[in-house]
Amino acid sequence: TPVALLISGRGSNATALIEACKAENFPARVCIVISNNPEAPGLEVARQAGLRTQVVDHRPFGKNREAHEQALHACLTEAGAELICLAGYMRLLTPWLTSTWAGRMLNIHPSLLPSFPGLHTHERALEAGVRLHGCTVHIVTEGMDEGPVLGQAAVPVLPGDTADALAARVLKQEHRLYPAVVKHFLDKTAPACQGGEALLVG
Ligand code: GRF
Repeated sequence: TPVALLISGRGSNATALIEACKAENFPARVCIVISNNPEAPGLEVARQAGLRTQVVDHRPFGKNREAHEQALHACLTEAGAELICLAGYMRLLTPWLTSTWAGRMLNIHPSLLPSFPGLHTHERALEAGVRLHGCTVHIVTEGMDEGPVLGQAAVPVLPGDTADALAARVLKQEHRLYPAVVKHFLDKTAPACQGGEALLVG
């Protein structure tokens, strides 16, 4: 299945998906990596991997989010994408794009949704005093960080944790979770619980 990766920054989740796609039995291949940010370091990673990349800068479109998304959509269809994986794509999406790609767009979020949607999830988890935190891959619907949950990975919050330490612990799990969920989503295989750790897909 041709998959488009949408990024805005570092691209470590995109990198994890690119790596996963190299395995012969992985049901996806990356057809394009698109960034709204021309400076996104993740673009270079994709280029190095020999993948097609495209910048669709939102700034020339000003407040017209839908016009930007139409440009994005044109790229996606031109590249033959059948699935979109948002991977640190830092733009709010309009109902036009979410409905156009309904059921075919996934997102990874650094919290155990429905806890802590939005930004600064690690700081907020520490403030709330939760003992478990983690990440979620879900189907994208109109509401931000809503939509059916496809998989989650949990990590402990440890005594003395800083937001950075916690973020790093979660990020490691993001890199396991996203490829596992994409595989399960496309293969429609039985629910997977991997390695005795708290990674539940399906
Ligand atoms: C990740 O924590 C992801 O969950 C969130 O934004 C961050 C992106 O990191 N949506 P990267 O660009 O994949 O390294």
